[in-house]
Amino acid sequence: MRLERNLGMDLVRCTEAAALRSGRFMGRGDKIAADQAAVDAMRFSLESMPMDGVVVIGEGEKDEAPMLYTGERVGTGETPAVDVAVDPVEGTTLLAEGMPGAIAVLAIAERGSLYNWSGIAYMDKLAVGEKARGAIDINAPVAENIRNVARAMKKQTEDVTVVVLDRPRHKELIQQIRQTGARIKLILHGDVSAGVMTAIDDPPADILMGIGGAPEAVITACAMKCVGGEIQCKIWPRNDDERALVRAQNLDPDKVYHTNDLVKGENVFFAATGITDGEFLRGVRYYGGGARTHSVVMRLASGTVRYIEGTHRWDKLMRISGVQYAAKQ
Ligand code: FBP
Repeated sequence: MRLERNLGMDLVRCTEAAALRSGRFMGRGDKIAADQAAVDAMRFSLESMPMDGVVVIGEGEKDEAPMLYTGERVGTGETPAVDVAVDPVEGTTLLAEGMPGAIAVLAIAERGSLYNWSGIAYMDKLAVGEKARGAIDINAPVAENIRNVARAMKKQTEDVTVVVLDRPRHKELIQQIRQTGARIKLILHGDVSAGVMTAIDDPPADILMGIGGAPEAVITACAMKCVGGEIQCKIWPRNDDERALVRAQNLDPDKVYHTNDLVKGENVFFAATGITDGEFLRGVRYYGGGARTHSVVMRLASGTVRYIEGTHRWDKLMRISGVQYAAKQ
């Protein structure tokens, strides 16, 4: 099934809606309320998207997520049939604490093409942009990967920037990176942005390394595929329960998942809107009569990457977000 229609603009409307509503919760210290606002708005906008969508990467199982749960049907029900991956707020803590880098993200690809591991929370990840595609191997030592990326990018090792989630589990990884002389950018949250940023023009980092969310790996892969980057991952079970789950599902913990294993389709769209200011996207700017958004939308079939500035009026916002956003001015 080909996705002939360009659903990119429809997609970006949904991430804009999520960002506009959840942006109101910046710094208010309530992750749950911030996420709920984004879910409500994204769910509402998805309803009018001309597609027969099934949420493959969602907010959790149906009993724990009333909306955008894994398996939920979204869209108008007309063709094309697509898989949908949502992350209404990537970086909920960043948003709740008023820190940079929270974004609203949505990706779609033809039905059956997005990978999903039920119950597996984390993956070990390695991602690079187009210039270093083919130069990485998640099974190779850290130093070898950094050396090979430096060579592919015609850089000194000391000029390579590796982005890593700041977590105790990465203590050894960080040490290994430091031994190579490469630069490190530690982030508190948000490894979708961090991964995708390695593949944009004038990237603020060259490699993403380390363990992060498994759903985020699939979403990152959608963007990487659109822009010609590469991601490699391995399942990272946290405890005995997850190891048992891996065995029960017949998953091979040594298997390397490449970009094309995570997203099989040839028709892939990725959209993101900044919620709080970040290196990748600017956050929502609220002004007297409305708000401004900054988004990106990518389409694999055409290879296009579009950055979109949206201007939204209070009195019209209700139509995209599903709620009365603010009193008419
Ligand atoms: P949320 O938006 O769901 O809070 O996820 C943020 C995030 O930092 C992801 O970007 C990352 O993949 C994951 O959490 C890392 O998980 P943990 O914080 O448990 O190390």
